[in-house]
Amino acid sequence: MKVDVLLGLQWGDEGKGKIVDVLCPQYDLIARFQGGPNAGHTLEFDGKKYILNTVPSGIFNPGTLNLIGGGVVIDPITLRQELDKLKTSGIDPVAHNKLVIARKAHLILPTHRLLDAASESKMGEAKIGSTLKGIGPTYMDKTGRNGIRVGDTELPDFRERYNKLVEKHKSILSHYGDIPDFSEREAEFFDAIEYLKTIPKVDSEQLVNRYLAEGKRVLAEGAQGTLLDIDFGSYPFVTSSNTTTAGACTGMGVAPNKIGEVIGIFKAYCTRVGGGPFPTELENETGEKIRQLGHEFGAITGRSRRTGWIDLPALRYAIMLNGVTQLVMTKADVLSGFEDIYACTHYIYNGEKIDFMPYDICSIKPEPVFEKIPGWNNDLTGITQVEDLPSAITDYIQYLEKALGVPIKYLSVGPDRTQTLILP
Ligand code: GDP
Ligand code: IMO
Ligand code: MG
Repeated sequence: MKVDVLLGLQWGDEGKGKIVDVLCPQYDLIARFQGGPNAGHTLEFDGKKYILNTVPSGIFNPGTLNLIGGGVVIDPITLRQELDKLKTSGIDPVAHNKLVIARKAHLILPTHRLLDAASESKMGEAKIGSTLKGIGPTYMDKTGRNGIRVGDTELPDFRERYNKLVEKHKSILSHYGDIPDFSEREAEFFDAIEYLKTIPKVDSEQLVNRYLAEGKRVLAEGAQGTLLDIDFGSYPFVTSSNTTTAGACTGMGVAPNKIGEVIGIFKAYCTRVGGGPFPTELENETGEKIRQLGHEFGAITGRSRRTGWIDLPALRYAIMLNGVTQLVMTKADVLSGFEDIYACTHYIYNGEKIDFMPYDICSIKPEPVFEKIPGWNNDLTGITQVEDLPSAITDYIQYLEKALGVPIKYLSVGPDRTQTLILP
């Protein structure tokens, strides 16, 4: 057996949570492999809406085990809040042995969050627009070989390790100005560490490879999106992990030749939250219309998401980097309100027409070249049969498949689990 990977091909919020929830009955294990509580994955079913941050989106399927992999960074405080909230909705994955955590996952400390905030405020206009969850500083400590891992909480010198790292953080923070009082959050952190100890720990590389050897099916759930990847995203306006398929290998401990299907998700248009370049951005009434119709406001921070037309050079780049074998298009219903829609087919960059993502899109803006495509005026949200789709959208799907070279297997026409069509 091989691990299938599901990940976002744009700047995040493509609808990963919804689609993992739809697909998870086909899998024995759902594993998050990178990112942390900067993620906000929304699931809707039975008239209820849930937003998951660190917990994998297979949590609502009784037959599926959920793994928070070693490549994830965990804030014990927010994880506990998330699990408490699920408990009030009648879902208790800890009591039902449906959640395990990799010992190698790194911990987000209260001071990591302070460092995130201090660094962002210092950058002024040039700020990344981080979710301020402490993601960047935690991954910095991981790669700087200073980090504290979930498995370390069981060690007798855990507190000393914590104190040593916090001393280092305080000395960095003092360069930014006064250090805010974090004693309350620190107490909460140690409480949450005790709670974390009640959740089973695993070596994710052993668990996942054992599952594969036993013929069990595993789906890796990405967070953020390809264009936020630390190596291949719109650097420096990126997150601090590998959001691409390669990150699934390191974030769980599986070899590249153990990767099976790679399911790439994209919206029928494009959004981005936070700073950084966005070639097809619409800073006009059309962009506002997409934002309102698509409810494009951040699942975690509530921030307005920037909106624009679909960007085919960026999608081709994401498909290449991830080895995408099948596509999912979400939010097609949002474009129903438009007479015509547009797709960016090329960029004009340094006076030349190019169809790939160049090295620098921050200081030199690629000018998008758009193709006009007939829209579909029909409401798609109630369509349950592919045969009932308007011909304009089936033409659009064929157009995209030709432009991207990969089949679109699923079409999402609303936020609910049931609003998902399997395409022939
Ligand atoms: P994720 O981070 O990739 O899981 O995506 P988010 O949950 O942050 O953002 C996607 C938003 O779009 C959520 O509010 C979903 O409920 C919603 N959504 C997902 N698929 C569709 C769809 O096909 N149509 C509409 N209208 N909303 C969708
Ligand atoms: P999901 O999994 C959209 C963005 C932030 C910021 C940049 C760095 O829900 O798709 P960070 O907090 O990582 O330091 O922020 O990345 N960002 C996301 N944008 N969806 C996300 O996750 C994101 N996680 C981080 O807005 O621009
Ligand atoms: Mg999201």
